Amino acid sequence: MNDGLPSEATALSPGSIGNVGVGYDVLGAAFDAVQDRVRVERIVAPTVEVGTITGTVTELPRQPKANTATKGLLDLVADRHLTHGFRVHIHKGIPLSSGVGGSAASAVAAMKAAQVLVDPPLSDDEVLHYALQGEAVASGALHGDNVVPMLHGGLVLTRSLDPLDVVPITVPDDLYTVLAHPNMQISTRSARAVLPQAFPVGAIVQQTGNLAALIAGCFQQDYELISRSLHDVLIEPYRSRLIPGFDDVMAAAREAGALGGSISGAGPSVFAWCENEAIATRVGEAMSEAFATVELDADIWTAPVDSAGARRIEAN
Ligand code: HSE
Repeated sequence: MNDGLPSEATALSPGSIGNVGVGYDVLGAAFDAVQDRVRVERIVAPTVEVGTITGTVTELPRQPKANTATKGLLDLVADRHLTHGFRVHIHKGIPLSSGVGGSAASAVAAMKAAQVLVDPPLSDDEVLHYALQGEAVASGALHGDNVVPMLHGGLVLTRSLDPLDVVPITVPDDLYTVLAHPNMQISTRSARAVLPQAFPVGAIVQQTGNLAALIAGCFQQDYELISRSLHDVLIEPYRSRLIPGFDDVMAAAREAGALGGSISGAGPSVFAWCENEAIATRVGEAMSEAFATVELDADIWTAPVDSAGARRIEAN
């Protein structure tokens, strides 16, 4: 393939805190404490192959149509009528079905790597489009609250996917996320299935107020407003039943100084926002102790809410 394009590229994607409690399917924050890394090689045949799978997860679908890291590339080969294809090597740093956007991160890292392996290179909107197709393989639905912040970094509101309308939200520099990942799995599909098709209008009104006020609180750097607003009254009541000890973990986090928190993505991870890193460390310990009382070991990770987005790196 003497076409001047690189023969391979590697990219990292951070995890994400989908929904951030009050913004179901529309609000998300990058979470760079955990990452997936994907190396994409160009191959002569116009096909897509799953290569090596290493890291925290090694049992992933090997069918390119069923793997989140390869589905977008399959669509790309077809859409552009490419005469070459791709082999994809996945290194998972994000645990499976943890609520930290692991499926989306592999899709994002794969497309970010592939961005420079075609001519003309993929635009950022194309990277986003194909990464969303990849994530939908696992979650069964198109939503922007993982893929968009993973690509962009920081806290991002996706007002609309079609047409794409994405609003980055400025957050206080010191605002930290602490995430407790209990040693269990919940699939996004099953966590979506427990939600009703209709919600009481009173809950919708309250949640709308919380979402709008949370965003205003971020722009105004008003920690008290953020704390008052970070209450998911719509989704959490249904999904929290799937997470043993959830109420006690949340109470322990607030008691230890967290501004608030909720379920991360579809769960089972639970996140809390804190005014700075020192408080986040303390809150993490309290959340871990609360999970231990229901006999769940929990990984604790912290990262700034304004975490870095996906980026290409030198292969190692
Ligand atoms: N926003 C989606 C959900 C995906 O909560 O089901 C989260 O990862």
